[in-house]
Amino acid sequence: MDATSIGKIGSKAGAAATVRGWLYNKRSSGKIQFLIVRDGTGYLQCVVPRAEVAPEVWAEAEKTTQECSLAVTGVVREDKRAPGGYEMTASAVEILGTSPDYPISPKEHGVDFLMNLRHLWMRSSQQHAVLRVRSEMEQAIADFFHEREFVRIDSPILTGSSVEGTSTLFETDYFGDKAYLSQSGQLYLEPAAAAFGRVYCFGPTFRAEKSKTRRHLTEFWMVEPEVAFLEFEGLCELAEDFVVALVERAIARCGEDLKRLERDVAKLEKVTKPFPRITYRDGIHALQKKGFPVNFGDDLGADEETALCADSERPLIVSRFPTAIKSFYMQPDPKDPEVVLGLDMLAPEGYGEIIGGSQRIHDLALLERRLEEHKLPREAYEWYLDVRRYGTFPHSGFGMGLERLVAWVCGIHHLREAIPYPRTLKRIYP
Ligand code: 4AD
Ligand code: MG
Repeated sequence: MDATSIGKIGSKAGAAATVRGWLYNKRSSGKIQFLIVRDGTGYLQCVVPRAEVAPEVWAEAEKTTQECSLAVTGVVREDKRAPGGYEMTASAVEILGTSPDYPISPKEHGVDFLMNLRHLWMRSSQQHAVLRVRSEMEQAIADFFHEREFVRIDSPILTGSSVEGTSTLFETDYFGDKAYLSQSGQLYLEPAAAAFGRVYCFGPTFRAEKSKTRRHLTEFWMVEPEVAFLEFEGLCELAEDFVVALVERAIARCGEDLKRLERDVAKLEKVTKPFPRITYRDGIHALQKKGFPVNFGDDLGADEETALCADSERPLIVSRFPTAIKSFYMQPDPKDPEVVLGLDMLAPEGYGEIIGGSQRIHDLALLERRLEEHKLPREAYEWYLDVRRYGTFPHSGFGMGLERLVAWVCGIHHLREAIPYPRTLKRIYP
């Protein structure tokens, strides 16, 4: 008999079916064995009654161990109490691959132990749920931009110019020259915006983050839209629409996974437009009132971000940062030249920055000055300056870290669980 996927087992209610998967869990009373089988699409409880099956079937079921692969055949019954709503009464059990001494038992393990076994840990129900939410968010991101007629432009991973400062560059030898792993696709998207109007890229980005925090990976996925003739206000709206659409999609399509993660979905349902906004200047004043020793020109750390968001159930858009603490390409605010038209979107519940973006400098002379001030090698940016030389135009874009979004949507503490194989300061395996 062809195997049926557990996610579609309902179509076999009242009939015989075979499922193939791995043994998730087992209980036995001596008279009945309950085998919980998972196949990636769901979990199915298979009941093996000693009195009703051949002795070899009973014996085979007894030999199954955690995470052995197996095939079970039997009649499918609807059962409201069963996880997924169906149960199978087994008539045949076949072990396909044994799994002696599976290292992850249902007891509690330390995260380091589990991360060393990431390739196996992703089989467990919570990790599985997080990675399914991630996959749904990836599709939702592509859909969002496709529906709005953005063209996807894949930016290179091996690059010659830095975008977000030189202190976090991964350097590699490129046939005798220096090359860097991409920190952001932005520089490649700005020219593409002049070719296509609205563009986005979505791929892995790399930063040699030497600090160990729960919000930093050395390899993470970033989605970056860039739009010709879009100015700062429009950029804030695009970021807002984007995040609302993604959270709505998670609520609509990831209900079961969020339940498994015990995510309080009511909190996500509050993520509606408009998001509150505050300028950096007002943010500093608000923090000073709360007793933080911060001044204009200081970078906001995780504690400051959390304090700023404390009263908000929606993401907070912080705008207009001091020129000195932001990247070289950000457009000055014409009304307040000490600050730039940049935004950070901070997620509620202490998740911190999920989006960073800005209007870009489109004046050639100003951009040349900024490169100098930031001590960036002019030669590496000549091609980028062409965007200002040949038909310059106001434009804006942002970047969102996928793992930051997924961690927040899932309500998990650390970014390392929001990516299949995390890369951090101390981790390159598995
Ligand atoms: O704020 P960032 O550095 O902005 C840029 O890279 C711009 N060039 C993007 C653009 O305008 N096109 O990074 C953008 C986002 C952050 O808000 C955060 O979500 C994520 O990327 N991010 C990280 N995520 C995980 N680990 C890290 N080390 C991250 N650094 C940034
Ligand atoms: Mg940032």
